[in-house]
Amino acid sequence: MSGREVFSRIAGRYDRLNRMLSLGRDDDWRRQAIAFLPPGRVLDLGAGTGAANPDLGDREIVALDPSSQMLALNPSTRRVVGKGERLPFSDGWFDGVFSAYVVRNLDSIPETLGEIARVLRPGGVAAIVDLGRPPAAWKRVLHRMGTAVVLPLAGATIGAVGEYRYLHRSLDSLPPPEEIYADGPLRLARVWRMGPMGFVYGVVLEKAPGTGHKEA
Ligand SMILES: C[S@@+](CC[C@H](N)C(=O)[O-])C[C@H]1O[C@@H](n2cnc3c(N)ncnc32)[C@H](O)[C@@H]1O
Repeated sequence: MSGREVFSRIAGRYDRLNRMLSLGRDDDWRRQAIAFLPPGRVLDLGAGTGAANPDLGDREIVALDPSSQMLALNPSTRRVVGKGERLPFSDGWFDGVFSAYVVRNLDSIPETLGEIARVLRPGGVAAIVDLGRPPAAWKRVLHRMGTAVVLPLAGATIGAVGEYRYLHRSLDSLPPPEEIYADGPLRLARVWRMGPMGFVYGVVLEKAPGTGHKEA
C-alpha cells in the first residue's frame, strides 16, 4: 500500500485521528516549523486537508497533494494534484516551502528535495516536520513497542487497521533527519526534536541567496 493510497482511504477521518494520536500537539509541532518561513508565496507540499492553513497566516498558499480525496477537504483556493517528486511549478516560484508529516510517505526523498530546491527562490526557506523514532536507542525500542500496539488499535477505532500498521512501519523506514538532509541541494540550517521522547523532528533548509537551482 503506498502513502497516497493510505491517505486517500482515510481522508475523511485523518484530522480526527491525527489529533488523537498526537494528543492535540500536531498543530503546535507544525507552528514551530512555520515560524521559520518567510512571508510571501508558500508551497504546502503534501498539504492534505489543509491543517496548516490557519498557522500559515496571510501567506499565499499553494496546496499540493497527490490525493484528490485529501485535497477535496482542503479549503485553500489554489489546490494542485501532484507529487513532490515532480512539482508542476517554475524555477524560483516560491518564497517558502512547508511540509508536515509527508517525508516518510514520499516515493523519493532526493528527487523531492531537488524539486523543492528548484522551485524556491534564491534565499528561500523550506521548513519540514515529520515523525520518526527517538534518537536514543532504548527510547527507540520502547517507542517501537508502543506504536506496534497503539497505532493498529487507534486504526481499529476507525476501521483502518491496515492503514495504521503502515504508519507504524513507516516510522522505521528512514534514518534520522541529520542524515536525511545532510548532503542535499539545500543547506541544513537547523534540526530540532519535539514530542514525547523526541519522536517528532523539525528541520529548516535554506537555498543560498543569489544562486540558481542546483542541478541534480
Ligand atoms: C500525514 S498526511 C499530512 C497532511 C498535512 N501535511 C498535515 O499536516 O496534516 C501525508 C500527506 O502526504 C501526501 N503524500 C503522499 N505521497 C506524497 C508525495 N509523493 N508527494 C506529496 N505528497 C504526498 C498524502 O496524500 C497525505 O495527504
